[in-house]
Amino acid sequence: MAALIAPSILSADFANLERDLNAIETADYAHVDVMDNHFVPNLTLGLPVFERLAQVSPVPIDAHLMIEDPDRWAPAYAEAGAASVTFHAEAAAAPVRLARELRRLGARAGLALRPATPVEPFLDLLAEVDMILVMTVEPGFGGQSFIEGTLPKIRRAREAVSGSGLDVWIQVDGGVSRSTIERAAEAGANVFVAGSAVYGAESVPDEIQALRELAEASAHAH
Ligand code: DX5
Ligand code: ZN
Repeated sequence: MAALIAPSILSADFANLERDLNAIETADYAHVDVMDNHFVPNLTLGLPVFERLAQVSPVPIDAHLMIEDPDRWAPAYAEAGAASVTFHAEAAAAPVRLARELRRLGARAGLALRPATPVEPFLDLLAEVDMILVMTVEPGFGGQSFIEGTLPKIRRAREAVSGSGLDVWIQVDGGVSRSTIERAAEAGANVFVAGSAVYGAESVPDEIQALRELAEASAHAH
């Protein structure tokens, strides 16, 4: 299975976002972290900035909404041109209704789980989403270290997806680097977000390629 690499612009230079989007043109997606200072203790950017990013990005945008009340706010990110919109299970009042709305607007629908949120309650709803995001750090900040204890959840999610026969992607986000990506891929992830590893690298395109190769070499046969 191909590994998809989605660098997070949280580690880009916020005064040079267009330049730093162009730097990841060889990636599969640009991962844009929207934080509202309520769901997480950090604030990044909102819809007006996001709309411009979607217009200038050389690659499709993967929106990760770390916000309260995504039922109300998430559809606008699909309307703004996000290829994928991921909202948090812990914040959504009606995740199935919201996922259906995002798909109706033409986006892929992603469901994100904080490290302590179990995947089991959502396994009967796999047909309603295009991606499960297993957070491998507590959301809110870049540069944290990968939580190894999330690997069994990635594995259980992959087993459920394989058993369902559905093509649901499994994304990991947080602490993904050359030293952790193989374990995440082996557990069953196929979409990899990396912020500090990519933007902190000497060569951004080389890092994207290195991460992709490591993930593809470790992907189990799912
Ligand atoms: C964290 C964000 C991540 C962040 C990852 O809450 O969701 O996307 O940018 O950064 P790294 O790869 O540095 O852990
Ligand atoms: Zn993210």
